[in-house]
Amino acid sequence: LWTPAKIVDDAVQKIREQVGTDKVLLGLSGGVDSSVTAALLHKAIGDQLTCVFVDNGLLRLNEGDQVMDMFGSSMGVKVIRADAEERFLTNLKGVSDPEQKRKVIGNTFIDVFDEEATRIQNVNWLAQGTIYPDVIESAASKTGKSHVIKSHHNVGGLPETMKLKLVEPLRELFKDEVRRIGLELGLPYDMVYRHPFPGPGLGVRILGEVKKDYADILRRADAIFLEELHRADYYHKTSQAFAVFLPVKSVGVVGDARRYEWVIALRAVETIDFMTARWAHLPYELLETVSNRIINEISGVSRVTYDVSSKPPATIEWE
Ligand code: XMP
Repeated sequence: LWTPAKIVDDAVQKIREQVGTDKVLLGLSGGVDSSVTAALLHKAIGDQLTCVFVDNGLLRLNEGDQVMDMFGSSMGVKVIRADAEERFLTNLKGVSDPEQKRKVIGNTFIDVFDEEATRIQNVNWLAQGTIYPDVIESAASKTGKSHVIKSHHNVGGLPETMKLKLVEPLRELFKDEVRRIGLELGLPYDMVYRHPFPGPGLGVRILGEVKKDYADILRRADAIFLEELHRADYYHKTSQAFAVFLPVKSVGVVGDARRYEWVIALRAVETIDFMTARWAHLPYELLETVSNRIINEISGVSRVTYDVSSKPPATIEWE
């Protein structure tokens, strides 16, 4: 019989048999899969687990602190935070092609992760939050976009000398099952049912070259959008929702002066499988509140638009 408690018990036992008294390393991103993996491993082997959380400076507002608070302070998981914002931004300077940006972000992630990993002594295992759909997807194609970041957590990205063995406790589970065992392990509902967030983060939501000023504006706009979605009880009625930074200047009037400021686009979709998607028919009042708040609270933004494109042909992300 499939119950979350039974799955957790079986997984815990299997992990203990597999790794024994060895040390395990996990790249924690704060996403559902790596978070559930962390909680499960922590339950199974406690302090034998060390997590590395890479803050690339392209995360949502306060996300890094939230991850550290939840895993580090509340759950007592050993987590090392690598603050690498400057390094990512430096490497992204002058890069505006979306696939190139993904590459730079992915490679920088590997470098930072490797450096942190090398500092931890006597690690034998690398844990990964691979879930069953990832297994199928990577068997079908090695080039899937959404797989790019996950593959970076792979042994392939680590120094040869480390020779880590893989432990993948979610490998046989579907997303829905992963969420249910996340709840069973005590992770908060809002964490376990959060929208997906791409590995390259805000890096692909700032069109063209990524700059710190842009990321700071986008983070605040995105936080307002998500906050209002939650308040109106629409967050869980959409599959994915976020703000996008458009590096074009549009006119606005402040007092009696004309000002040219940036544009923010809002994107919200409903989808089952993320292969096709419909733009979410959010209430006008909600869009109005979000738009007013963004323009009034964030200097540097003069205009907000709502994306009414379906996938296909438009993708969910703008890059
Ligand atoms: P698109 O934009 O292709 O997105 O319609 C489909 C889903 O994939 C996510 N996505 C990514 N996830 N790395 C990721 O980890 C990426 O480079 C990437 N690009 C898109 C997107 O957020 C959506 O959920």
